Amino acid sequence: MGYQAVTTLDALWSGEMAACAVEGKRVVLINIDGEIRAYEDICPHMRTPLSRGVLHGAVLTCATHGWVFDVRAGCGINPKQACLTPFATAVRGNEILVDVGQSGGTQSTALPHEECA
Ligand code: FES
Repeated sequence: MGYQAVTTLDALWSGEMAACAVEGKRVVLINIDGEIRAYEDICPHMRTPLSRGVLHGAVLTCATHGWVFDVRAGCGINPKQACLTPFATAVRGNEILVDVGQSGGTQSTALPHEECA
């Protein structure tokens, strides 16, 4: 299906995250100092929504059991072997777009899943 507009830069400020659904997939969008990242909104531990967690800079802590992720790279900090599933993002004017059919992508520099750990 390609890129889908999901929100705007006006609605997702630096330091914020937001949940959305794209083509039936749950997505968490994160604005890290103007860099947009998108991941599957599912914690790799026990599949609760990452968007319920706490974001400090580029560090996201899952609300359920406290696993910690570097959301710039999509990799686990604790535990290190945990990986997030990235989606490609792009910005067109004020719009934020996500392609859930692609890992990483145009604007995102998130590492592919297999590069974690
Ligand atoms: S479900 Fe996220 S740390 Fe357990």
